[in-house]
Amino acid sequence: MSSGYATENRGLAWLRRCLAEERKEAGLAFNPFRDAFQRAPEEVYAQLRERSPVHYSRLLDCWVVTRYDDVARVLRDHIVFRSSPDATTQDLVDPYVTLDPGRPSLFMLDPPDHTRLRGAVRETFGPEALRRLAPRLEECVRQVVCSLGWAGDRVDLVPRFATVIPLRVFELISGLELHADDRVTGWVRDVVGGLEPMATAHTADQALTAYRALGACLDEGRARPARAGTLHWTLARDVEAGRLSEAEARQLLMFLILAGTRTVSDFLADAARRLSALPPGAPARQRVDDTLVDDLITRISPVQIVARTAAVPTDVGGRRIAAGDRVLLVLASANRDPGRAGPDVSFGGGIHRCVGARLARLEGRSALACLLETFPGVRLAEAMPSRRCVTLRSWDRVIVHL
Ligand code: HEM
Repeated sequence: MSSGYATENRGLAWLRRCLAEERKEAGLAFNPFRDAFQRAPEEVYAQLRERSPVHYSRLLDCWVVTRYDDVARVLRDHIVFRSSPDATTQDLVDPYVTLDPGRPSLFMLDPPDHTRLRGAVRETFGPEALRRLAPRLEECVRQVVCSLGWAGDRVDLVPRFATVIPLRVFELISGLELHADDRVTGWVRDVVGGLEPMATAHTADQALTAYRALGACLDEGRARPARAGTLHWTLARDVEAGRLSEAEARQLLMFLILAGTRTVSDFLADAARRLSALPPGAPARQRVDDTLVDDLITRISPVQIVARTAAVPTDVGGRRIAAGDRVLLVLASANRDPGRAGPDVSFGGGIHRCVGARLARLEGRSALACLLETFPGVRLAEAMPSRRCVTLRSWDRVIVHL
């Protein structure tokens, strides 16, 4: 397995050759480096859906699947499409895979390990636990929103609202005090950068350094006594009972902070951007309920892509996929497919469907409702999407007047 996406060493000539070959084979090339893609990925995905729905990307060395039916089918078929990338024959592997090869994250495991580890956290994110959490979560959101400033102030919602809320909520659930500061957010950002299929040797190094620092920070928190009822406590109990190893408990916490903070902060940033751009009297601004939040999540699709590896030769959308081929499922495209005839796939599907989906909705509703109730006149000043994002759709800045 190669150690990361050393694409910068391959040079421009290699990139052009890949794209030219793709054009010859499929009539179009998928080039996530283009500005046009960064500005409006949905337009590129619409073209792929139409003209090359199961597209072999020479640049990324894997299949890009964009139609709803194909994406939904692969998500459901965890026997053929494995989450562990171990069997891949792909030359370029996401650097994320190489962060902790002996201790893969939940979403890179297959049954039976996946079933056992997922069972250890299921209850924490179930309806009953969230009902108990809701009042503390709402209080935490209220404090963040009230500390933004006064009506009329110019504020960047990315660091002060979207990033801080999921981190504080993680602290509430886990019982670990991470002193929700910029260092933790920076580490999460760098580690998650390793999930990008456009990562480079440089971003792979950054991901590894950040992964180690985040691990050390979590270990400090885990060394302190666990408070009853927190996730830290539940996992420690499972370790004592022999249901989990110490390494597995640590890895679960690591993955939950990675999976549950950046995704929600990307969602909150984009949702706040969209709502604050609407006129103050717009119905969506008057009533933030579950329906609105679900609709925003579908439209935004904060996790744009998930990956699988084919265990045996198989067909998808009429194309032959070889054993070991890596397949990128573009959830953001599937959600927008005019031929979509099923539930949205923003939280994935099948056995890996997001454990934190309910929590994400609760955070979204609570945070957006509190923002609009506290600052009914909030309006967008400027927003800047992050560059080089394919897997996630992030925002560097969402500046508003409160
Ligand atoms: C809007 C916010 C969120 C979005 C869009 C989202 C999306 C997703 C998606 C698409 C997957 C499937 C990955 C795959 O199939 O390979 C997933 C898995 C997962 N998510 Fe989320 N997620 C969000 C928030 C959260 C939160 C708040 C948590 C917990 C704190 C969380 C924890 C997880 C975990 C543990 C998995 C792995 C599940 C498994 O492999 O069985 N997510 N998420």
